[in-house]
Amino acid sequence: MKSIALLLPPMVIALAMHPAGAPRAQPAQSVELPTPDRTGTMSVERALNQRRSVRAYQGEAMTLDDVSQLLWAAQGITHANGYRTAPSAGALYPIELHVVAGRVEGLAPGVYRYRPGDHLLVATERRDRRADLARAALGQPWVQAGAIAMVITAVYERTARKYGGRAPRYAHIEAGHVAQNIYLQATARNLGTVIVGAFDDADVKAVLNLPDGEEPLAIMPVGRRQR
Ligand SMILES: Cc1cc2nc3c(=O)[nH]c(=O)nc-3n(C[C@H](O)[C@H](O)[C@H](O)COP(=O)(O)O)c2cc1C
Repeated sequence: MKSIALLLPPMVIALAMHPAGAPRAQPAQSVELPTPDRTGTMSVERALNQRRSVRAYQGEAMTLDDVSQLLWAAQGITHANGYRTAPSAGALYPIELHVVAGRVEGLAPGVYRYRPGDHLLVATERRDRRADLARAALGQPWVQAGAIAMVITAVYERTARKYGGRAPRYAHIEAGHVAQNIYLQATARNLGTVIVGAFDDADVKAVLNLPDGEEPLAIMPVGRRQR
């Protein structure tokens, strides 16, 4: 596994192995992400002061470092016990993150699911779905204009097992934390984003091929801010 990883930087196609070591017939395709910066240069006060919903982006590609940083800010693991950058009721983590990638250096266009525990992306589709996502978002053009669109989803059942009917409320609160983290991280990297809540649920689920029990809550296109 290590030798394959070394041969294919920066995108690593990791072959999932049987316990015995033989590759599976349908290998899972994963992309290792660069180590996130945990210090940064912009103060939280400055990021808060500059945060704005941005709907116009430069055409240039984002870097894999940008994508790594946004995902880490949203849901990165920051503690040995698995706690993350955003709080979660009972530390049950119902929030999932997807990246609909279009123009990213070192990342093929496609749809990816973030795995916080390994800080990697797992490819779920290998074609650019930004235009389809924009159509699902009632034609809002900025959804397609970002180099990527991040989609925040929730698996309510994870939280409902402990908190019953309060689970949707808790998951929605958590999605707000995650979204603000993305806003602030984007601001600190001179990227722009906007949270988009107006979309057709079934259409977004179809674009992401979401399993039953996972619901889309917000779309956040991200691109380089226009100067
Ligand atoms: C729950 C929620 C849903 C939103 N949905 C959309 C949307 O569908 N499209 C959009 O362009 N902006 C959307 N926004 C962004 C707001 O329009 C924006 O936050 C507001 O105009 C204030 O601007 P600011 O974020 O720059 O402070 C949404 C914001 C929130 C909190």
